[in-house]
Amino acid sequence: ERVNKAMEELDYHPNSLARGLRSGKTKTIGLVIPDISNQFFAEISRKIEDKGFEHGYSVILCNTDDNPQKEKTYIDVLIAKKVEGIIFISTVVESNNLQKTLEFNIPIIVVDRDIKDINSDIVLVDNNVGGYEATRYLIQLGHRRIACIEGPSPITPSSQRVGGYRKALQEARIPVDEDLIIAGDFRYESGNKAMRYLLNLSQPPTAVFACNDMMALGAIQAVNDHGLRIPDDISVIGFDNIPFSQTVYPTLTTMAQPIYEMAGLAVDLLIDRIKLQRQRNRGEVQKPGFKRIILETKLVKRNSCREIGKN
Ligand code: RIB
Repeated sequence: ERVNKAMEELDYHPNSLARGLRSGKTKTIGLVIPDISNQFFAEISRKIEDKGFEHGYSVILCNTDDNPQKEKTYIDVLIAKKVEGIIFISTVVESNNLQKTLEFNIPIIVVDRDIKDINSDIVLVDNNVGGYEATRYLIQLGHRRIACIEGPSPITPSSQRVGGYRKALQEARIPVDEDLIIAGDFRYESGNKAMRYLLNLSQPPTAVFACNDMMALGAIQAVNDHGLRIPDDISVIGFDNIPFSQTVYPTLTTMAQPIYEMAGLAVDLLIDRIKLQRQRNRGEVQKPGFKRIILETKLVKRNSCREIGKN
C-alpha cells in the first residue's frame, strides 16, 4: 500500500520499455503488411490486433506500400523495438529481410504470401484452386471468352490464381488466349485500366476473372464508364470478399478468403512460438517442426455474373 501511495503521489508510471528490456517480454508483436488501403489487409490487421490485444499484446503495424526497401527498414525497426514476434505478409517472394529476425531469435509467422526456404510457420489459402473455381464458375455460366486481370506476377497468390484460371480453361478445352491475360498490380486503378483495354478489343471478353476484389472494382467502374452494364454485357468475378464487394453495384461475385480464420491462426501460432522461444531461452525444449497451413477459399455468388448462351 505504501508503494502504491508513493507511486500515486509521484505520479509514477512504470516504464514498460525498460521493464521489457530487462525481462525480454515487451508484450509487443509486429505486423508487416503491403497495402493498408486495401480492405483485405485492413481486415486481416484488425483481426490480428483484436486477437493480439485479447492475449495482452500490443501490435505495431508496419505498412510497406509494396516497397521491399521500406519492408527492410521496418524489420530493423521491429528488431530495435524488441518485438517478441512478427506476423509477416511480404512484398516479394524472396524475403532475405526476414533472415535477420531469425538471427535475433524473433519468431515470425508468414501469412498469405508464401516465401521460399523460410524457417517459420506459414498460413496460406489454396490460390490455385480458388482461381480454378472462379473460372470454372464462369464456364458453367456458358462463357468461353474469359479474360483474367492478374496481380503482381512475382508474388505467389496471383501467379497461382492465374494457374487455376489456365487449368479450368484447359479442362474445358477452351484455348487460353494470352491476349486476354492482362497485368495488374492488385490496385483499383490497374483493374480499371485493364478493363478499358479489354473493352476496346475487336472481340471483347464476355467475362473477366480479376485476381483480387480491388481490381474487380476498378474493372466495374470501367464498364460503367464505357456505357455498358454488368452482368448484362460482361460478367466480373473477383477474389478476397472484402466488405466493398457487398456494397458495390452490382454486388460482386467473388472467391472469399477466410480472412478472419487466417488472422486468428497467425496469432495463435505466433503466441505458441513466443512461449517456445522463452523456453528455449531457458535452455528447455527443442523447437518442433514448422506448420504449413493451407486454407480453402469459397465461391460467393452475388450479382456481377450471369448465364449466357441459353437464350
Ligand atoms: O487484395 C490483395 C491481395 O494480396 C489479396 O488477394 C491477398 O491474397 C494478397 O496477397
